[in-house]
Amino acid sequence: MSHSKIYLSPPHMTGNEQKYINEAFDSNWIAPVGRNIDLFEQDIAHYVGAKGAVAVSSGTAAIHLALSLLGVKKGDTVFCSSLTFVASANPILYQSADPVFIDSEPESWNMSPQALNRALVEAKKKGKLPKAIIVVHLYGQPAKMEEIMELSEAYDVPVVEDAAESLGSTYQNQMTGSFGKFGVFSFNGNKIITTSGGGALVSDDLEALDRARFLATQARDPAIYYQHSQLGFNYRLSNILAGIGRAQMEVIEDRVQSRKEVFESYKRALSEYVDFQCNYQSERNLCRENRWLTAFTCVDSVEPLEIIEHLREQNIEARPIWKPLHLQPLFEKCMYYTHSISENVSEEIFRSGLCLPSGSNLSKEDQGKIIDILLKNLRKESLIEEIV
Ligand SMILES: Cc1ncc(COP(=O)(O)O)c(C=O)c1O
Repeated sequence: MSHSKIYLSPPHMTGNEQKYINEAFDSNWIAPVGRNIDLFEQDIAHYVGAKGAVAVSSGTAAIHLALSLLGVKKGDTVFCSSLTFVASANPILYQSADPVFIDSEPESWNMSPQALNRALVEAKKKGKLPKAIIVVHLYGQPAKMEEIMELSEAYDVPVVEDAAESLGSTYQNQMTGSFGKFGVFSFNGNKIITTSGGGALVSDDLEALDRARFLATQARDPAIYYQHSQLGFNYRLSNILAGIGRAQMEVIEDRVQSRKEVFESYKRALSEYVDFQCNYQSERNLCRENRWLTAFTCVDSVEPLEIIEHLREQNIEARPIWKPLHLQPLFEKCMYYTHSISENVSEEIFRSGLCLPSGSNLSKEDQGKIIDILLKNLRKESLIEEIV
């Protein structure tokens, strides 16, 4: 292996992070309160177009808080996209509720409104509507929010948007994360901006956000001694990490632009060989994708795992698509609604898809290397097909 590793989505610092970290040190606010947190929360809310934001220790914590605020409890069901990372659904289990998984639709790879509709119709017939619908914007692709919000309103079931991967993506000129009752972002080290680890809960319901702050700080009653009437969590973000977040928020638009350029370069180079189904939304002028990861499905003759292995041999990290949650042993007893009776879209995407290194700091030279390796292998595959 001749060159240093090319990661899928490494952190990309701006240089200003240290300045805000130093402010925390200088003022001795080395705690989960302080000026960096206040300003970071304002930045996020303003950018997303929500009335408020609460900075927390992870995106998973933000989803958990949203479900707690919605009163999700044992015996309840919560609908959730199946094609996503496990953290989208784990908080349903934290609340001892039952996940029901909803398939993707082929354009955006996100929650299929028609599968959601079937699931809601059946739930209503059984007299047991879900307590919430967790909609994921996978790899930064906005879900079909118009249809999903119509269903949410028709059945009066609140939406939690898992926008962990989609900060900066818009749908009909509105930021993802600002459609549902709650929106969730992640600032994990691999996300479009990072605080090393962290997350945010956004909403227009400021009272609910106050309750989120209360729950996230051990649900301490307003008493002079330590009194607790409710179960709380220790989920607030540190003022030091919020300093990193402040600097990162200054460049979010540049980061979106860079990821989009990375995506466009792959697309130009590979479109001859690979079926880029996930591009579809970029051609629908109502969306802007942040292209957190360049993800695409391959034609049948190409085996994604082989490509990942070829890249790994050259010290390059590529990944399969998230394994759908309804296929995870952890969730094997959960219900699953396919896109249609004959179409199981998430399983098809999982089988044929892969993600390429997409960092906003990926150099042109490194991307060129990746493309060369891909073309060599894809050409070989198509040649084999021709000979056969
Ligand atoms: C779709 C999705 N949801 C939730 C999360 C959880 O975020 P965190 O790692 O900050 O807990 C992640 C990423 O890690 C994610 O990709």
